[in-house]
Amino acid sequence: MKLTAVLIVCSSLMFGSLGKPQFPEHEKDPKFWNMWAQRTLKNALSLQSLNTNKAMNLILFLGDGMGIPTVTAARILKGQLNGQSGEETQLEMDKFPFVSLAKTYNTNAQVPDSAGTATAYLCGVKANEGTVGVSAAAVRTQCNTTQGNEVTSILKWAKEAGKSVGIVTTTRVNHATPSASYAHSVDRDWYSDNEMPAEALRDGCKDIARQLFENIPNIDVIMGGGRKYMFPKNKSDVEYPNDLKHSGTRKDGRNLVEEWTDRMKDKKGYYVWNKKQLLSLNPNNVNYLLGLFEPADLQYDLERNTETDPSLTEMVEMAIKILRKNPRGFYLLVEGGRIDHGHHEGKAKQALHETVEMDRAIGRADLLTSVHDTMTVVTADHSHVFNFGGYTGRGNTIFGLAPMLSDIDQKPFTSIIYGNGPGYKLINGARENVSTVDYQDNNYQAQAAVPLSMETHGGEDVAVFAKGPLAHLLHGVNEQNYIPHVMAYAACIGQNREHCVSRSGAADLRPVLSSIAALLTVTRILC
Ligand SMILES: *[C@@H]1O[C@H](CO)[C@@H](O)[C@H](O)[C@H]1NC(C)=O
Ligand SMILES: *[C@@H]1O[C@H](CO)[C@@H](O)[C@H](O)[C@H]1NC(C)=O
Ligand SMILES: *[C@@H]1O[C@H](CO)[C@@H](O)[C@H](O)[C@H]1NC(C)=O
Ligand SMILES: [Zn+2]
Repeated sequence: MKLTAVLIVCSSLMFGSLGKPQFPEHEKDPKFWNMWAQRTLKNALSLQSLNTNKAMNLILFLGDGMGIPTVTAARILKGQLNGQSGEETQLEMDKFPFVSLAKTYNTNAQVPDSAGTATAYLCGVKANEGTVGVSAAAVRTQCNTTQGNEVTSILKWAKEAGKSVGIVTTTRVNHATPSASYAHSVDRDWYSDNEMPAEALRDGCKDIARQLFENIPNIDVIMGGGRKYMFPKNKSDVEYPNDLKHSGTRKDGRNLVEEWTDRMKDKKGYYVWNKKQLLSLNPNNVNYLLGLFEPADLQYDLERNTETDPSLTEMVEMAIKILRKNPRGFYLLVEGGRIDHGHHEGKAKQALHETVEMDRAIGRADLLTSVHDTMTVVTADHSHVFNFGGYTGRGNTIFGLAPMLSDIDQKPFTSIIYGNGPGYKLINGARENVSTVDYQDNNYQAQAAVPLSMETHGGEDVAVFAKGPLAHLLHGVNEQNYIPHVMAYAACIGQNREHCVSRSGAADLRPVLSSIAALLTVTRILC
């Protein structure tokens, strides 16, 4: 390689004047690495006594589109936001003791979408892309293939077992991921009746917003966006009254929020639509919460109005404080839903900041729960064609340049690159010189090999991080639909509960059984 090809990146603190990456002095000492590894080994050995408690609470954190390259890049970003070089940082999810891989394909797709995958990791059944809460026997957009093909979710199993249940997302609450936990729809886009073909309505199919309130009675906590799908057509939005595109969409003229508040009037149910209202609630006095903070999806965390819009972490904290009052425990689905959107737009900085915020929420949930009775799983539905590379030095800003020029066009390139997407760009017929633009901008679209208006999902496996009771059952390489089977088993809900009697009952029954045995022995001797 030509020496002239080495570009000195001055913007990074971690680079010395010679352009060589710097790292902490103690990393030169083998003792440092040996001690670190030995500490890790000690932790691993302590896991030999497995946590076989019954899980009272279940939490699933779903990073939409959070493939493994996204996890690694978000880890580096989190460290760099804390003034470190980044690579050595531990995400909250990195601290989970058990990690496995999930195969994400849909029944009819090698590279999946968020609807078919949500059906897998929520209902335990692989399904076709574009469909939620129905088996692969249902055909996308064909209303008449719904009936008889419905599958139910772990949220429903939990509710039926007497647990409190909640959904928290940064997308609209009727988006693909959350909807598979309560809806049965052959089309993920049927947000309200306005988005449905007349034929589907005539054949009796219901829009997803309506199913949110009608299918599972009283989901205890619902938070996210999607206000407009709940209000009658043309009803102006409370936050953007002059913006017609945010007005209500419902052709049936129903006001689902009003119906909900009427139903909850005497049940300590509260509807909120901004951060101030949310944070003014005392969770001890709230049994049901409906929070709809935007007409459609929430803002990206980087662009969020921190005065009026709650963060994912703030929503998760309130959700857990409400749900955990139930002595029978709870099930909570948390979606970092806009990691996916950032990637689709080729805006890696948005996607990675969304990921860091979800990681913060994972840390908050950890403070509010205990691994003794709470199983927490962190995973993604699918990956993206996002990656970073180019032999960057230690501590190179994650949004920075590779330390070399292309040996073909002699131009610099960013470490982050997409396989396809809107970042493909030609200037006078040639690849753009990224040094002439602000590639650290929040909305910079990283270069892509193939032009597409929307970057696509990726097809490789995703990571599944687990902790708490029976978390060790999530090991190896599994089909994605295995996840809710494990979570339900750990909590003694759903279809497989035989072990619950013997496991939880055994301790209670053993003294009784032995005294009966003793009595029988005595009886036999006496007779
Ligand atoms: C179901 O609907 C599709 C159109 O969506 C139609 O082509 C088909 O004939 C219908 N099948 C039945 C059994 O009604
Ligand atoms: C909503 O507004 C549009 C445009 O003003 C109008 O054409 C339509 O009839 C209205 N719909 C309802 C249900 O009021
Ligand atoms: C790319 O842009 C930088 C900054 O303007 C400039 O110094 C460099 O010569 C350009 N490289 C090419 C190959 O045009
Ligand atoms: Zn997507």
